Amino acid sequence: MFGMVYLQAGANLERFVVITTVLDHAADDPACVPATCRIGLLGLGTIGAAFARLTRDAGPHLSTRGIMPVASIALVRSASRPRDAADDVAAGVTDSADVFFTEPLDVVVEVLGGVEPAYTLVRRALDRGIPVVTANKSLIAAHGEELVTLARRRGTSVRFEAGCISGVPFLGTFERRPLASRASAVTGILNGTSNSILTAMTSGVRFDAALADAQRLGFAEPDPGMDISGRDAAEKLSILARLFGRVLLDPGTVPMEAISAIEPEDISAATAFDGAIRPLAHAAWAGATVRAFVGPARVTGVTNGVVIESAGGTQCYTGPGAGPAVTAATLMDDVIELLSERRARTLTPEPAKAATDVRRPDTSWFLRLTGDARRSDVADLLGSYGVWCTRVARRGDRTYVLTCAANTSRVAAALDAVRAAIGGTATAFPALDGDAAC
Ligand SMILES: NC(=O)c1ccc[n+]([C@@H]2O[C@H](COP(=O)([O-])OP(=O)(O)OC[C@H]3O[C@@H](n4cnc5c(N)ncnc54)[C@H](OP(=O)(O)O)[C@@H]3O)[C@@H](O)[C@H]2O)c1
Repeated sequence: MFGMVYLQAGANLERFVVITTVLDHAADDPACVPATCRIGLLGLGTIGAAFARLTRDAGPHLSTRGIMPVASIALVRSASRPRDAADDVAAGVTDSADVFFTEPLDVVVEVLGGVEPAYTLVRRALDRGIPVVTANKSLIAAHGEELVTLARRRGTSVRFEAGCISGVPFLGTFERRPLASRASAVTGILNGTSNSILTAMTSGVRFDAALADAQRLGFAEPDPGMDISGRDAAEKLSILARLFGRVLLDPGTVPMEAISAIEPEDISAATAFDGAIRPLAHAAWAGATVRAFVGPARVTGVTNGVVIESAGGTQCYTGPGAGPAVTAATLMDDVIELLSERRARTLTPEPAKAATDVRRPDTSWFLRLTGDARRSDVADLLGSYGVWCTRVARRGDRTYVLTCAANTSRVAAALDAVRAAIGGTATAFPALDGDAAC
């Protein structure tokens, strides 16, 4: 079957023979001589360098699985720049995609980041029947469905476990369990950087100082915009909605709030209400209707991870935030897994439908009010809009309120009235009780 596909795709016979060897013999029989797996790296930055190092260091261990990974060649933007990681790549680095694709490759690992040129280059690999493993959530959020379809047509695979909370590798497991993965909602902490910042803020550190610390310690990237704004989590949420809901959710349509909206006082108020503030991503779907948000939310009991709700019950996956070493290991596991599968993925999932109605869910709310907000007046005013309070507390010059579940537009109208009455500000964050608890 592989032979037919490769010959039809016009790929060279040498690659066909090598992949067949890896798939049909080595992975089947760990006792046999390990087959070399030639890996082309698209990108040799933080993750690419960690991956190249892993091919060298983990080789002896992986050979017991019948596979000897070798980083064959790496495509970079600036080939003339000296870099230590080049020593771990057999044919060195190139800035020419044509040179990269001249090298015989068994697998391409894409760690460029961004949508282009990653999209064009991944298509080029799949068109030649070369399987692709990627850590690039932006690429998969934008073109995941199309790339998976292209891979299937070419008789090969594209895998992206490392692109979506790689410290909690569960996508592969779910992919092989179609009934367990028929979910109706996912909720999770999908961005480790914003989680570490909000955790630091629990000890009273202000946002700017917590961000600077995260950057100094290497948790946050020099440009943490995607993490802080919620865009990174929205892209991961879109990947999860497609996998578990067969819903195509444009990350740009997900209501988002930056974690920079949070102040240390909000965190202590949430603690006083027996909760915490965490950077949450949530989506629940029914047909083309999606209720979703990304941003700081008041929660109880959440640790890092993702909660998946399905007819069979609620499942929770937790794990560490991902750094380069964890991401590189997850990429390598994807490489080994796809080579160990004796055939390409041929399962055809049900067609995905585009989400046409994406709005915030009607959750409970954690409100921060400034100005002249007397407890009973605020509770009465909110109640007159059908927004019922369960907790109200005055802390310094602010009033904090926890409400019952209430319709988003009703809450917006109530907050307008509250602002006018107290002559101050009124900010609402979603509050999830138990829903997201692991
Ligand atoms: N960093 C993490 O902890 C982490 C965790 C999980 C997932 N990821 C994902 O992994 C991917 C890579 O992240 P990273 O942190 O390794 O990025 P990075 O350090 O910026 O590395 C990007 C690499 O791609 C190359 N590159 C970029 N644009 C190119 C172009 N137009 N043509 C050729 N080469 C190009 C760069 O070449 P030069 O070296 O010449 O500049 C560099 O080697 C991203 O999708 C990211 O979201 C990262």
